[in-house]
Amino acid sequence: MELKLGFLASHGGSNMQAIIDAYKKGETTAIPAVVISNNSKSFALQRAKDEGIPNFHISSASYPESDDLDNAIIEKMEEFGVNLIILAGYMKKIGIGILRKYKGKILNIHPALLPKFGGEGMYGMNVHRAVIEAKEKESGPTVHLVDEEYDNGRILNQMKIDVNENDTPESLAEKVLAVEHLIYIDTIKKIETGEIVLD
Ligand code: GRF
Repeated sequence: MELKLGFLASHGGSNMQAIIDAYKKGETTAIPAVVISNNSKSFALQRAKDEGIPNFHISSASYPESDDLDNAIIEKMEEFGVNLIILAGYMKKIGIGILRKYKGKILNIHPALLPKFGGEGMYGMNVHRAVIEAKEKESGPTVHLVDEEYDNGRILNQMKIDVNENDTPESLAEKVLAVEHLIYIDTIKKIETGEIVLD
């Protein structure tokens, strides 16, 4: 299946960059087609510019009505032929319009082993702090489908790493992020080959 990826990102976009790099190296044929960010100052938009990938700042500042925001995002995804949406550190909840239009075609990566340590408020360092406080022996990223609830959709792929006694939330975040880059690409490749079948 030929994949055309539409990224939604709010901040650094290192996961997005890893996927773009994999495409450039020929590790995947999934085409990074468009990048949309709600944050005009996000490094993700800068990365897209540097890579010559069409990029747009679309946010609730210009589209206060959620339907209008969804439609503006859908319009861009359609314009660039996107058939798989990749959330790459997108800090906004996905609107119902986008969920309906791209049902089963929206992926997210979460920096813990779902269904543990997910849900509202579980993002960024909060996740790693909670993992350490719970004295977990393992952590690692989860790639999952996106539905109406935070971190709730079908789990597609996970990768485990050890949590050491001397890990801090920061050291754990760094270790998990490095593995995120691998597992996001691995998941996309498995969708391409049909090893992972989307709904
Ligand atoms: C990652 O930790 C990911 O798990 C979470 O947001 C972060 C995005 O990092 N959803 P980056 O923008 O890809 O560097």
